[in-house]
Amino acid sequence: MTHTKIAIIGGSGIYDIDGLQGAEWTTVDSPWGAPSDAILSGTLGGVEMAFLPRHGRGHVHSPSTVPYRANIDALKRLGVTDVISVSACGSFREAMAPGDFVIVDQFIDRTIAREKSFFGSGCVAHVSVAHPTCPRLGDACEAAARDAGITVHRGGTYLAMEGPQFSTLAESRMYRESWGADVIGMTNMPEAKLAREAELCYASVAMITDYDSWHPDHGEVDVSEIIKTLMGNADKGRDLVKRLPALLGADRAPCPHGCDRALEYAILTRPE
Ligand code: ADE
Repeated sequence: MTHTKIAIIGGSGIYDIDGLQGAEWTTVDSPWGAPSDAILSGTLGGVEMAFLPRHGRGHVHSPSTVPYRANIDALKRLGVTDVISVSACGSFREAMAPGDFVIVDQFIDRTIAREKSFFGSGCVAHVSVAHPTCPRLGDACEAAARDAGITVHRGGTYLAMEGPQFSTLAESRMYRESWGADVIGMTNMPEAKLAREAELCYASVAMITDYDSWHPDHGEVDVSEIIKTLMGNADKGRDLVKRLPALLGADRAPCPHGCDRALEYAILTRPE
């Protein structure tokens, strides 16, 4: 058994955790550069928690400039075991409406301008991301959302786009009709891949703010529409987060899905 330490990476609209005891912001150094911001640490219901605002307080990092490697490395250095992303997204499904949450379980990575791995020259490793999220963490997120009275969809494919512009109508239709994506956002990749390389369990709670641009009854997506929905979503997101410690518990067995052993058969470079 090890101690659970849950990290929340909060996207737009989520900038802290309610009710955190002994809460303290600390700066964590990483060889991969500076993380997005200082990290808020404390306990909730006897469980250790950490919080990292993905875009930094004041929203200073765009999706393309978020220092994803430094963020995941800093959380690992703090002893985090479980990472939960809570972020805004657009929806490609009529039934996944603005205000609903989706517990994402798959990704299509269309990002093109980000560092995506801790490995490269010197040490080569290929981890599997066939199942990029942890079902055990997904169960906890789903239960927390249901307890909080949130309309939640279990499972969904998240199209990660580079941004910062939203999709064209042709892209939106292609992702939805041909590629089978359910939601779209700009930040969960390469974050989920890096969490796997760092042997951290990762789950993603996608808070729907809009129908992107495909929906004939809704206009094209814009930031003012997103912010309006985000305000309500952020309260619900914080409510969900508060319920996670009781569901995950302070003690932690090895991950039944092997997320915490992802490197066991992944490294090709001969040890020196
Ligand atoms: N975040 C929120 N809504 C989005 C959308 N439609 N596309 C990309 N990222 C988003």
